[in-house]
Amino acid sequence: MKPVLLQLNPILIPAINDQLNSLYQVYKYFEIVDKERFIAETGSLVQGVISGGHTGISNALMHKLPNLKVVAINGVGTDAVDLEYAKGRGIHVTATLGALTDDVADLAVGLLLAVCRGICSGDRFVKDGKWPKNPSPIAIPLSRRFSGMTVGIVGMGRIGRAVAQRISGFRCSIKYTDIKKFDDITYDFVGEITELAEQSDALILCAAADKADGIVNAKVLKALGKDGFLINIARGKLVNEPDIVEALNKGVIAGAGLDVFVDEPNVSPLLLSNDRVVLQAHRASATIETRTAMGELVLESLAQALSGQIPRMSLTT
Ligand code: 8YV
Repeated sequence: MKPVLLQLNPILIPAINDQLNSLYQVYKYFEIVDKERFIAETGSLVQGVISGGHTGISNALMHKLPNLKVVAINGVGTDAVDLEYAKGRGIHVTATLGALTDDVADLAVGLLLAVCRGICSGDRFVKDGKWPKNPSPIAIPLSRRFSGMTVGIVGMGRIGRAVAQRISGFRCSIKYTDIKKFDDITYDFVGEITELAEQSDALILCAAADKADGIVNAKVLKALGKDGFLINIARGKLVNEPDIVEALNKGVIAGAGLDVFVDEPNVSPLLLSNDRVVLQAHRASATIETRTAMGELVLESLAQALSGQIPRMSLTT
């Protein structure tokens, strides 16, 4: 009998699904209507779980899977898994470290460019047929220059560093904050996020969200100021969402580019109607190339954990 897996999120790469199905008995939890009954009948057979970074897995569900050996996160964020609980049970939690760095960093830069230059509002203006009706150049306000900005990066891990590399090409001055200063990089370290915001034209959030709920609040946004931009490609909960909604609507900051939200897929209606914000539906790692690489790491982690090895990508050993 093939080992039994529970898959909590869809995987969009057919070749990865084919391999999963050939090696394992995969139950798609997100398609099961009577989840309670399924768990009561099959929970004890489940040896592996596949989930997304944002979805993770609750302790309540892990508790109902007594033979669980591995939770393979198809992502890098592990804020939605209780690593200590998993460790205590001897469950490996793995992530797809390194596989999505480039794409997430690319989207961060894309969002900053889009929001500074009004790319999305300009696109809507033309597509909605407003240009011929408003041919005067004053119909669209001037945008802002991205090249040469001072950019504050919050979280200088793999993704923060990849963002820094890219924006160096735009001659940006780069500063960062993190829980500590790193000796292997020469960018300016600023120990406090409000100070970093004060010194930056744009803040880009690249931090893990495990212990950083609400680090961007009204005070930080005020420090970023009316000419400042906020980009979030990490986790919605890093930002106190009512504060960003208010800051955008009252012009406390100039604009924002947001890929992630507190209560996905629900986004505050006040953000939907604001032209100063560019929104994405949590898409930073959503390319064919990256999702294929992520899927391959998920397969590797499952194979290693279920054959009794310590997975190369384990975060609980
Ligand atoms: C993915 C993510 O969208 O890596 C993460 O933590 O949130 C994203 O890359 C998600 O994990 C897709 O499965």
